[in-house]
Amino acid sequence: MADEPVQRGLQDVVALESQICFIDGKKGRLIYRGYDIRELAEHSTFEEVAYLLWYGRLPTSKHLDELRRRLGGLRELPEPVVRVLAEMPVNANPMDVLRTAVSALAVYEPAETQPGSSSIGGALRLTAVLPTILGYYHRRRAGLPPPEPNPALSHSAWILNAIRGTEGSELEIRALDVALILHADHELNASTFAARVTASTLSDLYSSVTSAIGTLKGPLHGGAAERVMELLEEVGSADRAEETIRAKLSRHERIMGFGHRVYKVEDPRATILREWSRRVGQAKGNLRYYDLLRRIEEVVHAERGLYPNVDLYSGSVYTLLNVPKDLFTPLFAASRVVGWTAHVLEEYQDLRLIRPTAQYVGLTDLSYTPIEKR
Ligand code: ACO
Repeated sequence: MADEPVQRGLQDVVALESQICFIDGKKGRLIYRGYDIRELAEHSTFEEVAYLLWYGRLPTSKHLDELRRRLGGLRELPEPVVRVLAEMPVNANPMDVLRTAVSALAVYEPAETQPGSSSIGGALRLTAVLPTILGYYHRRRAGLPPPEPNPALSHSAWILNAIRGTEGSELEIRALDVALILHADHELNASTFAARVTASTLSDLYSSVTSAIGTLKGPLHGGAAERVMELLEEVGSADRAEETIRAKLSRHERIMGFGHRVYKVEDPRATILREWSRRVGQAKGNLRYYDLLRRIEEVVHAERGLYPNVDLYSGSVYTLLNVPKDLFTPLFAASRVVGWTAHVLEEYQDLRLIRPTAQYVGLTDLSYTPIEKR
């Protein structure tokens, strides 16, 4: 393998076969198990999409009720994990908190962590409990009482309730539900790949999700939405967009929320979230973020021909839902956990250790010098 061309960042490398998610980067299409994301965002719920990703087919009403009932019943945190959370500094990074809590959970739930298990019990548990961890952490730092798991709420309503103490209006819940549907899976993105690499060693589901959370944290992946809101704060008003963006580009800075490894046209998730950003903004009488983002889009496209990705508009929707910006990436995790776990379960069905090779460019013929002679 010594003289094979190196595919930096594994770009365009087809690493495995999967039946979960298809991205057509040239046409801007995203498909979950055969269904176009636009149809799912229009008609389905997050729970339906979770069922689809895990089981490979849309649920009947009976299956969906059963799934909702099971998720609703798995929201409580074990007492020792609550104690782990209570020990964390209130200014800890929420993704560090999430990663640590999932890792700690594994210690107390050994039945769910059998390596190679094809049971979706662990997937349900992690999906149900991530919002509780977030809510617990956030409410504690805000000096508020801990979230009280309510099994009757939908996943999105529970997330809003766990963070804010109230699930809010139908529009708010639906806006979050659509955002979660759009984030639930995305083929072999970096965090899903990390989860599959971990699973491919026949490690367990909780370890795989812990790897994925650490990978999602980076600003080139899940951390971009938060940076977009920082950009909006920096730009301030639409008339300053051109000057600010041009200055950044001339300093070779990346504009967060633009560009994608796979999409060569607009990310279909950005198209849907743009509309939701407008819809929620209008309902709340605040179109400032939407207008500013539209202007930034025009400038970035004119200057570099780049298209928005999913992260450009998600932060504006979350901000309008009163979710603090350091919880955007954890929210992403609370949705993508479905994709991670679906991929891990698929990995176990067709297991092959993921272990690429490197092109060695170092030295080979040095002779050892005793330490006293160096
Ligand atoms: N701002 C400015 N220039 C950009 C951007 C951007 N957001 N994205 C790509 N470019 C430029 C690069 O500078 C590069 O230019 P060059 O060839 O003159 O050096 C060219 O476009 C190609 O960029 P690459 O880095 O090779 O593209 P890659 O496929 O590796 O990058 C990535 C994809 C990491 C998403 C990139 O577009 C980026 O950094 N975007 C900003 C971060 C972001 O929004 N991330 C969220 C992605 S979606 C998600 O993970 C959920």
